[in-house]
Formats: sequence, structure tokens, C-alpha cells
Amino acid sequence: MQVTEYKPKIVAFCCNWCSYAGADLAGNNRLAYPAEVKIIRVPCSCRVNPMFILRAFQRGADGVIICGCHPGDCHYTSGNYYTRRRMALLFSMLNYLGIEKERTRVEWVSAAEGAKFAATMNDFVQTVAALGENKRLEDLRCKL
Ligand code: FES
Repeated sequence: MQVTEYKPKIVAFCCNWCSYAGADLAGNNRLAYPAEVKIIRVPCSCRVNPMFILRAFQRGADGVIICGCHPGDCHYTSGNYYTRRRMALLFSMLNYLGIEKERTRVEWVSAAEGAKFAATMNDFVQTVAALGENKRLEDLRCKL
């Protein structure tokens, strides 16, 4: 009998101007990060509606990470400040719903930080893998 290793499903929302470029740089420099990380490019981290995160958990994601420009560097001036405030509220709500807060994270990654991007993803995948599958919000209709 073959034993398959558990690999968590990770959704990474990356802003177009910094984090996505950081991911690109990680790729160009051949810095490895797990293939289970599925990147969704958004114009700015503030484009991520908190409902996107809940929906990702509902549809089977085990972890969701939001990456944006460093505070003060947002291409749209203050988008990531909105993200920071909005996500702080969402994270406290996730706690209320019984979802471990380690399953979500906000990270600031600039276009020059390919190594940080790869290290962050490796660390996040390890953390989520240790928590196991996320079954708290799963929508059984999505399993079909
Ligand atoms: Fe990157 Fe706003 S453009 S966080």
C-alpha cells in the first residue's frame, strides 16, 4: 500500500506591483517553494475582499496568505493600510469561527525580495501542514 504525504493547499494573493514581482524574482533565481502554493495576482493587496478568504477556505484551501507591498510603498499610496486593518478584523473573526489563526497571514514582500518570498512560502506551508487539513468551513458541495 502506498502512503501519500499530506500536502496542504495554499492560496496566495499577491499584489501585482511588489509581491508578484517578488515571486517572479524567486523563480528567476531558482529559489524553491512548494508547488502547492497557488498564486492569485491582484492589482493591490486591498483588492482582497475578506470574503475571498472565507470562500477559499470553503472551497478546500488549508491556508491563505496575502502578500503586498511594504507599508508606505503601495502603488496606490494607502491600499496596504486598508489591508492591514481589514485583515486584523477578519483574523479575529476567524478565531471566533474556530479557524486557527496560523492558517492566514499577511506578509509584505517587495519586488526585490525573492528570497523572502520563497522563505515565507516555505515557512507558511510547513506551519499549515503541521495543522493538518482545514475542515472547519469546508463546503461539501465543493468536494464533488
Ligand atoms: Fe502592492 Fe498596494 S500595490 S499593496
